[in-house]
Amino acid sequence: MPNSEAVYFNGNYSPKNQTSLSILDRGFLFGDGVYELIPVYNKHIFYIKDHLNRLKSSLESINIDSSLVDDDEFIKIINSLIELNDYVNHYIYIHISRGVDKKRNHIYSKECEPTILIMGENYKPFDKSTIEYGKKAIIEDDYRWLKSNIKSTSLLANVLIKNKAFTDDAYEALLLRDQYLTEGSASNVFIVDNGVIKTPKLSNKLLPGITRKFLTDLIIENKLDFEECDISKDQLLTSDEIFCSSSTNPVVPITRVDNNVISNKAGPVSMELYNYVQEFIRETYK
Ligand code: PDD
Repeated sequence: MPNSEAVYFNGNYSPKNQTSLSILDRGFLFGDGVYELIPVYNKHIFYIKDHLNRLKSSLESINIDSSLVDDDEFIKIINSLIELNDYVNHYIYIHISRGVDKKRNHIYSKECEPTILIMGENYKPFDKSTIEYGKKAIIEDDYRWLKSNIKSTSLLANVLIKNKAFTDDAYEALLLRDQYLTEGSASNVFIVDNGVIKTPKLSNKLLPGITRKFLTDLIIENKLDFEECDISKDQLLTSDEIFCSSSTNPVVPITRVDNNVISNKAGPVSMELYNYVQEFIRETYK
């Protein structure tokens, strides 16, 4: 029963459909907060330390003391939710806003106590036949702010861009800033160029995706050629393969970009990585 699931909210467990928030919460009024989305595979939390480290780094970037995230305590809460709700293959969403303020004011009061929500959601990643066929993407101008490395809950630009892609029958929008690839509206992006897997370097213009790191680990472990570098629009459109990575779908081959056909089906390198991911999950989270 989805809505009777338990969620963790400010120190207590309560039913999802009976948990509510003050209208003076700065997360609601200003999108003043940060979040994480963490896959759960066969009841095991994926790359949890990396997710918690990124959460702490996001908190520090918006001047919230990250010591409120105690790794052991957060892992205990997540495991409690997995047990309480019988989560098997789900994701966990952690949302921390600056908290409830005295009034709506851009300037936050120092006394704000951060609001902490941790909840799960069922999701079904694409099946292998969808992956093999590949997905369409569109190209969009990256008009987001220049702190896209923060996993902020202020996602209006991403929401508008992702919905533009959806309206165009595409899975993702590949974002270009000054004609160079940054990332997708909700994913990181890789290309394969003459056998070399390439992705943009980490910077303030893109999110340091945990799946990006996981894939990089797999690429290095399997001795595939890899480079972090600038990728121009031309390089993107003339590449041999493109794929997107995110916690919800670790490898999504892109076979069409706007009216350009990249390939007729997912390329061999994308499929090799996809298979490594599946094998890692199967073997690690038995
Ligand atoms: N989004 N870039 C952006 C802008 C994202 O929103 C995401 C993930 C990623 C990939 O990060 P990771 O590998 O850590 O999931 C990159 C999540 C899934 C979301 O907002 O729902």
